Amino acid sequence: MSQFADKTAIISGGAEGIGLSIAKALGEQKMNIVLADIDQKNLEKASLELRGSGISVLPVTLDVADEAQWHDAAQQAIERFGKIHMVVNNAGIGGDTGPIQNAQTKGWQWALDVNLMGVMYGAKVMVPLIKQHGEGGWIINVASMAGMGGIPYNGAYTATKTAVVALSESWAAELQSKGIKVSVLCPAFVQTRIYDSNRNRPLKYQNDTATPTNEDSFADKTKHLVENGIDVSIVGKRVVEALNDGELYIFTHPNYRAIVQRRFQAIDAAFERAAQSPLLEQIANQKLDML
Ligand SMILES: NC(=O)c1ccc[n+]([C@@H]2O[C@H](COP(=O)([O-])OP(=O)(O)OC[C@H]3O[C@@H](n4cnc5c(N)ncnc54)[C@H](O)[C@@H]3O)[C@@H](O)[C@H]2O)c1
Repeated sequence: MSQFADKTAIISGGAEGIGLSIAKALGEQKMNIVLADIDQKNLEKASLELRGSGISVLPVTLDVADEAQWHDAAQQAIERFGKIHMVVNNAGIGGDTGPIQNAQTKGWQWALDVNLMGVMYGAKVMVPLIKQHGEGGWIINVASMAGMGGIPYNGAYTATKTAVVALSESWAAELQSKGIKVSVLCPAFVQTRIYDSNRNRPLKYQNDTATPTNEDSFADKTKHLVENGIDVSIVGKRVVEALNDGELYIFTHPNYRAIVQRRFQAIDAAFERAAQSPLLEQIANQKLDML
């Protein structure tokens, strides 16, 4: 029997795209699925689809950037399924693109609130509920390959996704002894509507002035790459496969390995130069003090 059977997962941004793909794959493992999304119309549509495949599903309206709504979602999930074992912090937005001099505070705040604070709230609210039943569980954070190396003209997205990778590493070490496994999914391009994230952009995050259109070619390029990305149905199945292997880092694009290797080689080479510096001679051989 699957280790996931009869357990309950709450999936943010589950109404379409990668979240829905993960919901389908976990539902096939006989998990109860709490689909949580800001888009009510798609939420209903996706829930009907999952129900049609025999999956137990509860749709819950959730804006991940609002901590109080996470508590409401948890309460509804527990009323329906009794316990929560897994949170998939998937909801995310592409955010504004363009050169740094065009960055706008509201656009940045939107990316920070959804992509970073949304992940933090999801774990903060769900971890005590997972600990409560003592059966163990999982936190799965959806970052990106953008969390493994900076993407030009995409500062806010890169910053939030890098933070999600770092948070996942921090929580993995923190929660290991509590029986909660942490994983971070880092996909490259997947065919979804991520390039049209503005469809869910609340009014309070609308920029004060329009972004100059001549700087927007990066947005078009991203759309093209996403439309030519991998089929979204692979991602959910890959997540189940990697969870069964106990992976911390879940990759969907092995062809991106060389990019990460180049980054690590550059970091390693910089350490080597630091080790050779006469200024740092004393420090190079000092005993490591870590938490
Ligand atoms: N598609 C890609 O190429 C790609 C690559 C790397 C990482 N990702 C990440 O995958 C995750 C899912 O994105 P996707 O590609 O499926 O995009 P998508 O736009 O197709 O789906 C995102 C879902 O999140 C929901 N959502 C948006 N804002 C929300 C909020 N504030 N609260 C709750 N739900 C909200 C949307 O309604 C939608 O259902 C994101 O975190 C994204 O950054 C996507």
